[in-house]
Amino acid sequence: MTIRLGGIIAGLAITLVLVLWSLLPGVYNLAFGPPSEKQPSAAFYEHGHGPEGGFSFNGAFGKWDYAQLQRGYQVYKEVCSACHSLKFVSFRNLKQLGYTDAEVEAEAKSWTVPGIDPATGEVNTRLALPTDTFPSPYPNAIAAAAANNNAVPPDLSLMTKARHDGSNYVYDLLTGYGEADPAKAAKVGFETPDGLYFNKHFPNVNIAMPQPLSDDQVTYADGTKSTTAQMSKDVAAFLTWTAEPSLIHRKQMGWFVIGFLLFATTLAFLSYKQIWAGLKPKKK
Ligand code: HEC
Repeated sequence: MTIRLGGIIAGLAITLVLVLWSLLPGVYNLAFGPPSEKQPSAAFYEHGHGPEGGFSFNGAFGKWDYAQLQRGYQVYKEVCSACHSLKFVSFRNLKQLGYTDAEVEAEAKSWTVPGIDPATGEVNTRLALPTDTFPSPYPNAIAAAAANNNAVPPDLSLMTKARHDGSNYVYDLLTGYGEADPAKAAKVGFETPDGLYFNKHFPNVNIAMPQPLSDDQVTYADGTKSTTAQMSKDVAAFLTWTAEPSLIHRKQMGWFVIGFLLFATTLAFLSYKQIWAGLKPKKK
């Protein structure tokens, strides 16, 4: 009896300690404020929602919009590639966007990549081959940081996978530039240091990437009007493709697999009926 009582008391004590322990962070935050609110920049962060109407590849029946991917590639080539590489994407992969072999070869030749002079062994540059990957404009991270206020422009191949809700995030980031409300900034003591740029959709709010896109920056080959929102959406779609070229295939495969499982289940059920058909349940 006393043992049982002791056990109950010990159990209750442990539960109490655990409950108090789990409440500790909440109590701490109540007393001192959540860590993020101590940074004035948090007052300016706004969670974005991606482009109006979403992307063509969203949802279980999503599809690539190849014209859009080609426009996105154009934006990457003419704007983003000045700072960002795509080290996991080769020129030959562009075939998947609907370019022919000849077009891919010509496209590769319009880029230069680091090379080695076979005659002298010295470092030089050469025209790219379809098997090359999209190069970084900088020789290394130190040079990249030196050119960008100490921030290295990250490789964009897998960016939409590396960020939560990446396709929407890239769109939001590119359309998130502007000015911090000066009155509010004065009140919370917020400022954007020299060499950084205010972007309400960047978690840190001040970003080292200058606003890369502005209206009519590229002239689209297909005549689409190049508003900032349009280019942002197109390049976000393109970067979704670079991060997961098999996205649509994966979704279609999912439907096939569900269909097959339904078929297999039906088959299994019918054969179960067939196998047990001759056996009557035992009489008690
Ligand atoms: C002038 C150079 C420059 C250009 C052009 C540029 N970027 Fe950047 N980008 C940067 C730098 C520098 C950073 C790192 C910013 C930081 O960490 O503060 C960055 C970061 C990013 C990030 C990562 C943000 C994060 O969450 O860490 C994305 C996504 C991005 N750029 C996309 C693009 C796209 C898309 C384009 C073309 C439309 C582009 N950038 C053009 C310099 C550039």
